[in-house]
Amino acid sequence: MKYNTLSDGEFRARRAYFTKVARGRSAAAAAAAAASGHLDPGSGRRRKEDAGIELSGLTKRFLTPAGTAFTALRDVDLMVRPGQFCAVVGPTGCGKSTTLTMVAGLDRPSAGSVQVGGQPVTGITSGTSFMFQADALLPWKTVLANVAMGPLFHRATKKAAQASAREWLRVVGLAGFEDHHPHQLSGGMRKRVSLAAALINEPSILLMDEPFGALDVQTKAIMSNELLRLWDQTRPSVIFVTHDLEEAIALADQVVVMTAAPGTVKSVYEIDLPRPRGAVQEIRFEPRFLELHHQIWESLREEVERAYARTTSAPDDPAPAGHPPVPDKGERS
Ligand SMILES: Nc1ncnc2c1ncn2[C@@H]1O[C@H](COP(=O)(O)OP(=O)(O)OP(=O)(O)O)[C@@H](O)[C@H]1O
Ligand SMILES: [Mg+2]
Repeated sequence: MKYNTLSDGEFRARRAYFTKVARGRSAAAAAAAAASGHLDPGSGRRRKEDAGIELSGLTKRFLTPAGTAFTALRDVDLMVRPGQFCAVVGPTGCGKSTTLTMVAGLDRPSAGSVQVGGQPVTGITSGTSFMFQADALLPWKTVLANVAMGPLFHRATKKAAQASAREWLRVVGLAGFEDHHPHQLSGGMRKRVSLAAALINEPSILLMDEPFGALDVQTKAIMSNELLRLWDQTRPSVIFVTHDLEEAIALADQVVVMTAAPGTVKSVYEIDLPRPRGAVQEIRFEPRFLELHHQIWESLREEVERAYARTTSAPDDPAPAGHPPVPDKGERS
């Protein structure tokens, strides 16, 4: 039987995520959270006004297979206001996924800080849903069971979790597919399941890592419109990573351009296109959209070219492709 299998990395990330979520539900954690006044301990949810994200001096170093330190992110400063839709663009390997991982609390910075709702992130970030870069549905579970997993982890009864999952599947246009398995769906349908699984907990923070990257242009447009409609209903703070600058501008309030590795924030653009935006396919012809696109692309193009030049550098170049030697500034690892 053909399954839509997870890569090892995605499976490990997803398992680590749910393990941490499960651990984070201890009574002590709930009590501490309640005492801090930043969480709703009953559901593990975060109040919308506490969903602002602030990265300051965020630096992340990894150990390479050769045993040397590689600086993936350096001195990243970024602010996402509660309820703001922030899109992040930057060349491949500049640390976009790494940034999301640290906002989610799945990994720790080497230096600098990640704060959510004014509190440093020390464990899994409550009230957060994470749509991973690759399909992260569990292939052995039905569509319904995949979507119901979130509420079950939040201690809903099976009946309530399934009822909620059915409702969200209806919202994303998949009523009637509850008993299918992921391999029986198209790529676009699987993304809808992932979106339902991300939204079912009504997150106040939504982290999306190239969620529609693998979709065809038409399906991507449909999913983008759907996402905007759903975001507008509950207004979580969103960090949306994409390689598609048009998609970033059409969706976001703020577009952040990152530099080639080591990734840092190069420029931030406020997107002053009015909301509701209407169809993303049409807004791209608006004069203001074209103006913003032109400006942001100028900034992004340089970084994409720099990153590309590195990957095509001579094999005897002392800096291995994508891993340039980086002078460290005494960060802790
Ligand atoms: N666990 C790890 N160990 C070592 N290096 C890592 C690890 N995770 C990421 N890196 C390195 O950090 C850099 C940034 O990786 P990251 O996945 O964040 O990039 P990205 O911007 O999301 O790229 P893409 O657009 O291709 O998804 C890359 O050079 C990658 O090789
Ligand atoms: Mg990535």
